[in-house]
Amino acid sequence: MKKLALFASGNGTNVQRIAEYFKDNDKVEISLVIVNKKDAYVRERARALGIDDIYFSRNDFYNTNNVLEELKKRDIDIIVLAGFLWLVPENLIQNYTIINIHPALLPKFGGKGMYGHFVHQAVVDNKEKETGITIHYVNENYDDGGIIFQAKCEVLPTDTAEDIAEKIHHLEYEHFPKVIESLL
Ligand code: GAR
Repeated sequence: MKKLALFASGNGTNVQRIAEYFKDNDKVEISLVIVNKKDAYVRERARALGIDDIYFSRNDFYNTNNVLEELKKRDIDIIVLAGFLWLVPENLIQNYTIINIHPALLPKFGGKGMYGHFVHQAVVDNKEKETGITIHYVNENYDDGGIIFQAKCEVLPTDTAEDIAEKIHHLEYEHFPKVIESLL
């Protein structure tokens, strides 16, 4: 049995998709959702899915071993960032394999402050003809670890950031759970 912890900051549609994908898989358990925002909607989703959710503050993440201890206590094997917007602290990087999904074709449109809407707006502003998703290992820098998988989609001249967000989410739902499964 492989135990996963999902980290998220906001809505959590990827968390929901991953949890539903593995629901009937007796070799994979989504053990826990960790959030860094008290009122993140993903907590409602986790509860509806019957998955424990825990909030940790900035202080917990960066100045204590509280997150690490919780993960150890629950025998977590791998951490998946699914819409998690903070840099991962070093104590977690040293102890776990961590993977992230980024809503662009890294190394383009990555780095601090590049998340969600800001990424898609930058794609529009740069008049890109294509964009996509990147699933990669996490290291101590933003969006910098080894790339595991990318998938592309077309950007039309008329596309808004919202249009692109929809295309990207579609790619994420299709590929992210399968790529996670391939790594377990
Ligand atoms: C996803 O599109 C994910 O790629 C992005 O946040 C969104 C979360 O959506 N992550 C980043 O931008 C990380 N830099 P969700 O909460 O509905 O899953």
